[in-house]
Amino acid sequence: MTKKITWKSIIFTLNCYRTDYPTLQENQPLKQGSFQRLCLSDISNSSSPQAIDDLSISLAGSKLHIFSLDELKEATHNFSWSNLLGEGGFGPVHKGFFDDKLRRGLKAQPVAVKRLDLSGLQGHREWLAEIIFLGQLQHPHLVKLIGYCYEEEHRLLVYEYMPRGSLENQLFRRYSAVLPWSTRMKIALGAAKGLAFLHEVDKPVIYRDFKASNILLDSDYTAKLSDFGLAKDGPEGEETHVTTRVMGTQGYAAPEYVMTGHLTTKSDVYSYGVVLLELLTGKRVVDKNRPSKEHSLVEWARPMLRDPKKLYRVIDPRLEGQFPARGARKVAALAYKCLSHHPNPRPTMSDVVAILETLQGFDDVFIGPFVYVAIGEDQKEA
Ligand SMILES: Nc1ncnc2c1ncn2[C@@H]1O[C@H](COP(=O)(O)OP(=O)(O)OP(=O)(O)O)[C@@H](O)[C@H]1O
Ligand SMILES: [Mg+2]
Repeated sequence: MTKKITWKSIIFTLNCYRTDYPTLQENQPLKQGSFQRLCLSDISNSSSPQAIDDLSISLAGSKLHIFSLDELKEATHNFSWSNLLGEGGFGPVHKGFFDDKLRRGLKAQPVAVKRLDLSGLQGHREWLAEIIFLGQLQHPHLVKLIGYCYEEEHRLLVYEYMPRGSLENQLFRRYSAVLPWSTRMKIALGAAKGLAFLHEVDKPVIYRDFKASNILLDSDYTAKLSDFGLAKDGPEGEETHVTTRVMGTQGYAAPEYVMTGHLTTKSDVYSYGVVLLELLTGKRVVDKNRPSKEHSLVEWARPMLRDPKKLYRVIDPRLEGQFPARGARKVAALAYKCLSHHPNPRPTMSDVVAILETLQGFDDVFIGPFVYVAIGEDQKEA
């Protein structure tokens, strides 16, 4: 698992206010002035029960359910190990099941219950950020938050269950089946749409933690972004975010953000480029088990992305040549641009969506390994 990095201290510059929560369709940007989102800074100064009660009133229009700890214990068989889906910095994630009698208006369904590890590094602020962002922003490429639980020191989050888990598991787990090219492109497009949506709401959101483990996959490989614990409302007008505490995950964070704390939507575009490179190569962003020149995927692979002769060295060999040559070159050129050292040449996420739209629909037909038959000297003469 890649590690979270944290340096120095953070400056919060979030501000905005209240209610009216539209449900958005794919590619439907929020209209300026149609509503104003509730922001983290409105609430995060207080973790008092009163403040959380106020939160549930403020988010009443978001249709989030508030669950008791006992209800979530019952749904997950008391958080049994057999139901454990994974564990990140926030705490363990368990699969659970709601029957149709639990709440009016809540259908019977499997769910994923994330429980804050009370001794962990992340905490109340991340829990709150998740509720505030996902409670108000709904989109086909963002995971759906069904509700939450707040009881004494306990903090839990309840999401729709994503049957294929994370992209990290699908792409890198040793015994998982190889993801075909067309599926990789579908995932790349879905994740790009999720990020483009966040960047285009009338007060843009910087996601800050774009990585393979935060892209969850539905049964048909529809990609959905999860984990808004580090998300930030973007600066308004001429303001810029300069943060003295850099948060994110090693290898995925943009160089200017790591070096200067300067945070923009283009920092997310860099992280997107890293994931696109992981999809192209089938390799993790950082892996100390590779030869030393290849420890950093970006340093090793980026120079080869623009050279068609070298490109074949970086494309995932497990694809066994089953990818369209032109499409692969376009994806490589896109990853190259997203991974620009300076933010300006990086495309916007809607540029990325537009390019990836043209690269869908490759028919992955397995034709078996290519066999080269050498002609013997005697045959040449014949
Ligand atoms: N809604 C969900 N449906 C199915 N599986 C999920 C869901 N949410 C999380 N998981 C599983 O739980 C794992 C842990 O998720 P979590 O977001 O807590 O940690 P992480 O992304 O691995 O690490 P980090 O804390 O750095 O974000 C995921 O990798 C995924 O396999
Ligand atoms: Mg995560």
